[in-house]
Amino acid sequence: MKILAIETSCDETACAIVEDGVKELVSVVASSKELHEVTGGVVPEVASRKQMEFMMPVLEKTVEDYRRKMGFESRKQAVDSIDALAVTVGPGLIGSLVVGVTTAKALALAWKKPLIPVNHLVGHIYANFIDNPRKIQFPAVCLLVSGGHTDLVLLKRHGEFEYLGGTLDDAVGECFDKTARLLGISKYLGGALLSKKAEECKENSIVGKLPRPMIREDNYDFSFSGLKTAVKRLVAAEPNLPAETIAREFETAVVEVLVEKTMRAVKEKGVKSLLMGGGVAANKTLRAALEKECEKSGVVFHVPPVRLCTDYAVYIASVAYFEKETVSPVKVKADPSLRIMDKA
Ligand code: KG4
Ligand code: ZN
Repeated sequence: MKILAIETSCDETACAIVEDGVKELVSVVASSKELHEVTGGVVPEVASRKQMEFMMPVLEKTVEDYRRKMGFESRKQAVDSIDALAVTVGPGLIGSLVVGVTTAKALALAWKKPLIPVNHLVGHIYANFIDNPRKIQFPAVCLLVSGGHTDLVLLKRHGEFEYLGGTLDDAVGECFDKTARLLGISKYLGGALLSKKAEECKENSIVGKLPRPMIREDNYDFSFSGLKTAVKRLVAAEPNLPAETIAREFETAVVEVLVEKTMRAVKEKGVKSLLMGGGVAANKTLRAALEKECEKSGVVFHVPPVRLCTDYAVYIASVAYFEKETVSPVKVKADPSLRIMDKA
């Protein structure tokens, strides 16, 4: 089954065609990220204008790349071979979401194909299913770590999840970004740069100076806003500490908390697979730490390639394939405040 998916939740305009939920056939992405770097944050109006500009060219390139790849003579033959459409309906910026949602609805009606609405957050989880040579065994725990979310979820089977816990305040990516800004590393989406900076510190001379929030609490919740404040205090108290040392201690604190709580969930729920998804899943230290802990516990650790930790349409098609819940195109609506357990 071939599904064409559209993803426009924030500043990426993405389109992909995926076979049987796991095989990426084609994927095209355009991004307005560079514009937001200038302003130090996404300006929703700018993001949605760029979505409008990019949507049709991205869609057309996807269909053309697919036609060529599959050897179809005409565009019509290529389109006819697509079985269904999928679209991200939320969460995200409303102005960005409606571009993808409206396009998908119009296509579904014009091409007479079923349309499957998808929750973007579930999409990040399903990035683990794309071209993964190792089988994902249910039940599984998934750690979702992004700029807006930090959640631990138990996946019982496709479409059946149990919420275990999550952040009570800032998301972990947000905390990385705010700390990067505080340390003068980057104005916008500084997580990756902060992590690079931390690599420059060969020895952490301030181990334990920053708190490990909620690490010993008997639940699956997190809190990161205090950590960011602790960094601020540390910088004020010890202005001569090199940024790379603080970055290293900060990253260590975050990783310790995430690993401790995640592995607790893995053990208490008795699962054999751990998944991770979202932008922060690109973090090398976190990937290595979870890999190591899983190896010790005989658990298979799945994590998408770094490319699929960011926004892509590929995994939106994957969710659609496994959930297969089509909705009349007329009824599909964008929902900017969708949460992880909400139905799309
Ligand atoms: O929110 P998110 O999943 O973005 C999309 O949905 O596109 O991922 C972006 C977040 C930002 O907070 C960014 O700083 C963080 O992921 N991030 C990282 C790394 N790469 C991206 N945080 C820590 N280490 C990284 N290597
Ligand atoms: Zn995302």
